[in-house]
Amino acid sequence: MRVLRTINSSPMFNHSLRRTNSALWLLVSISLLLAVPAPASEPPPSNDDCMMCHEDASMTRENGEALGAGLDAWPESIHGMVDLSCVDCHADPAAAEMPHPAQLDPPDCSACHSDAAEQHATSVHGATVTLGEGSGVAAACWDCHGAHDVLPSSDPESRTSHFAVPKTCGQCHSEPHSAGEGTATTPGAAVCFDASVHGHALLGAGLRVAPNCATCHGSHQIRRPSDPESRVHRAAIPDTCGSCHEAIRRQYADSVHGALADAGNTVAAICTDCHTYHQIGSPDLADWKVDVIGECGTCHEESLETYRDTFHGQVTSLGFARVATCSGCHGSHDILPKDAPGSRVSVERRLATCQECHTRAGPNFVQYDPHPKPEDAERDAKLYYTGQFMKVLLIGVFSFFFLHTALWLPRSFKARREHHRRPSDRFSNPR
Ligand code: HEC
Ligand code: HEC
Ligand code: HEC
Ligand code: HEC
Ligand code: HEC
Ligand code: HEC
Ligand code: HEC
Ligand code: HEC
Ligand code: HEC
Ligand code: HEC
Ligand code: HEC
Repeated sequence: MRVLRTINSSPMFNHSLRRTNSALWLLVSISLLLAVPAPASEPPPSNDDCMMCHEDASMTRENGEALGAGLDAWPESIHGMVDLSCVDCHADPAAAEMPHPAQLDPPDCSACHSDAAEQHATSVHGATVTLGEGSGVAAACWDCHGAHDVLPSSDPESRTSHFAVPKTCGQCHSEPHSAGEGTATTPGAAVCFDASVHGHALLGAGLRVAPNCATCHGSHQIRRPSDPESRVHRAAIPDTCGSCHEAIRRQYADSVHGALADAGNTVAAICTDCHTYHQIGSPDLADWKVDVIGECGTCHEESLETYRDTFHGQVTSLGFARVATCSGCHGSHDILPKDAPGSRVSVERRLATCQECHTRAGPNFVQYDPHPKPEDAERDAKLYYTGQFMKVLLIGVFSFFFLHTALWLPRSFKARREHHRRPSDRFSNPR
């Protein structure tokens, strides 16, 4: 009767058990007595022992919440299938006398999944953050996997299946938020991702080869972009993207940007400087082709300025991508310094590059400077002296008019004064 007495006197059960009918209550008490005999050699409580209370829909917490929330999925879950015991995860009720305390420790998954647990502990999600009123880890195992309905990622119904991951991460990364001291203020990563080429390929076309959040970030080892160990740290990004876009990665490695970036230069353009990361759009679209000019311009300010002075630059600034954009002449993943023989704008190859669009262009055509600097005599003497001549002409014309007006002024004043002094004018114009 020890157990029964304790249960009856426990304030924890007063509220919930009052509603249970007495027949069931008797059953519960008897089974508990059978299941939990003498303290000395007690075997741990079986799942049936726990389910006796937790399966009973009429038993609730003080606030009315069901005690068995989510347990219906248990038999089909991976842990139900392998016959895990409730106390494998809920360790403290195993030792506690029934009824167990109202507050239990959070479950511990590390006993069986030590690799995942170790990685998670050092990730951004394993760090403690203060959110709202409480404080806890940023994302616990069960925030991504569920509690009693855990399924292997290979199961399409799993929260961590390849196609479900954006939704799972999106529980927390859809809204702009700045929990903790981080920078997660960008308008919802998941929202941006869904609308990107990758989002369309994954969620629209259902391509298994398209990336989800975890392909780029990892699952248990997710770190801040500023962390050198992160897969999305600046230095790691070309390889992260290159794990799928292999041919482009190889071409990029030989380009001026790639060679510098791989050597540790943090200013040379990497994939995400030109493409962005969550909002990646299709490079086939005219809008994208025109926008990327601005991205080149963030680093090559002067080249952008001089380009804007040309026919190509003026037309693209109106939104038309038919004329040459930066990459139309320089290439994209194969950009080389202008003097390198392989460069698309080298002396050797320039004509061929222009001819891709100007099919009838001859050697004279390439004399045209796509980055004109009229103030630089060494770059283009003809342009420089034409410019100088135009300046002289302009100054000359203006000086002449200034002189002309300056000489005319006193004369015109004098003429006006004489005109006013004449009396005949006063009578002929009375006011
Ligand atoms: C005699 C009925 C009874 C038995 C047997 C029982 N529980 Fe409970 N359990 C409850 C009640 C009632 C609550 C709700 C406590 C509250 O919120 O006031 C609860 C709460 C819990 C909670 C939530 C604790 C928290 O911190 O919110 C867990 C987990 C739990 N039980 C696991 C178990 C496990 C595992 C077993 C088997 C070893 C078990 N229970 C056996 C009645 C029982
Ligand atoms: C694989 C580990 C695991 C096993 C095995 C397990 N649970 Fe849980 N249980 C969890 C997790 C995770 C939570 C959620 C904890 C949280 O949200 O803080 C949870 C929560 C609970 C809760 C609180 C539910 C609520 O709505 O607040 C109860 C009750 C519970 N478990 C009972 C059981 C019972 C009964 C069994 C055996 C049939 C069992 N658990 C087996 C991991 C497990
Ligand atoms: C931020 C979300 C997230 C958190 C938090 C998380 N996981 Fe995972 N987990 C995943 C994803 C996504 C996969 C699937 C990875 C894949 O297929 O590459 C996965 C896979 C797994 C796997 C199966 C693959 C493997 O590595 O063996 C296990 C086991 C696992 N997680 C356990 C855990 C445990 C234990 C914790 C807590 C210590 C945890 N996870 C925390 C997202 C998460
Ligand atoms: C007592 C040991 C044990 C505990 C504790 C445990 N698990 Fe498991 N878990 C297993 C076993 C056994 C399997 C099935 C075999 C396998 O795939 O590794 C499994 C499978 C999984 C899988 C699917 C793995 C896959 O292949 O995709 C995930 C995810 C998982 N567990 C997450 C968790 C989480 C989250 C917790 C804590 C809430 C937890 N486990 C607690 C033993 C455990
Ligand atoms: C339960 C909520 C939750 C889930 C689910 C979740 N996260 Fe987080 N995540 C957070 C919180 C909270 C932070 C810490 C924010 C901070 O301090 O800036 C964070 C931080 C991050 C960061 C670092 C952000 C930064 O600005 O440095 C990345 C990257 C990240 N999460 C990716 C993911 C991915 C990918 C998934 C899914 C596999 C995921 N998260 C699932 C809550 C979550
Ligand atoms: C194609 C690769 C890729 C995919 C897919 C991806 N990310 Fe990212 N993510 C990145 C890169 C790269 C950065 C770092 C950018 C930087 O700061 O330089 C990043 C940064 C972040 C950050 C830090 C804050 C921010 O937005 O700058 C969070 C949070 C995040 N990602 C969450 C997610 C979530 C959630 C998903 C899935 C819905 C996802 N990511 C999908 C590549 C990816
Ligand atoms: C898991 C493999 C994978 C990873 C990692 C990946 N991508 Fe992709 N990417 C794809 C697939 C698949 C497509 C869709 C192809 C399609 O639908 O035509 C795609 C499409 C693209 C496109 C559009 C191509 C087009 O012609 O429309 C660009 C640009 C792109 N990715 C850039 C990136 C960048 C930048 C990164 C790194 C931040 C990255 N990708 C990481 C697989 C990947
Ligand atoms: C200097 C800017 C720049 C960098 C750096 C860059 N790209 Fe691109 N990318 C472009 C441009 C411009 C296009 C459009 C090419 C075209 O229209 O011919 C493009 C096109 C693409 C495409 C579409 C397929 C194609 O070739 O047309 C993919 C996929 C892609 N890039 C992935 C990547 C990846 C992965 C990286 C990093 C390894 C990367 N890009 C680095 C500018 C860049
Ligand atoms: C019509 C073809 C064409 C277009 C369009 C074009 N360039 Fe050039 N670019 C060239 C040629 C040709 C050279 C070599 C000039 C020389 O020999 O001095 C060059 C040189 C350069 C150089 C080397 C430094 C220099 O000024 O000599 C950079 C950097 C550059 N371009 C960037 C850009 C950027 C950024 C854009 C777009 C805003 C762009 N280019 C648009 C043809 C073009
Ligand atoms: C994140 C900054 C960044 C972006 C964005 C960027 N570049 Fe560069 N680029 C560099 C750096 C750094 C170098 C090497 C230093 C130098 O020569 O100016 C370089 C070199 C070059 C060169 C060789 C210059 C020479 O010496 O002849 C060309 C051409 C060029 N970039 C074109 C482009 C084009 C076209 C784009 C856009 C599609 C672009 N870059 C985007 C940083 C950038
Ligand atoms: C991506 C295609 C493309 C490339 C590459 C290109 N252009 Fe053009 N360019 C055009 C288009 C389209 C026009 C609009 C006029 C037309 O339809 O002929 C134009 C107009 C011009 C004009 C002014 C109009 C005219 O026909 O006289 C000049 C000058 C010019 N380009 C020079 C060059 C030179 C020099 C190169 C090589 C360094 C070059 N372009 C490379 C597409 C291109």
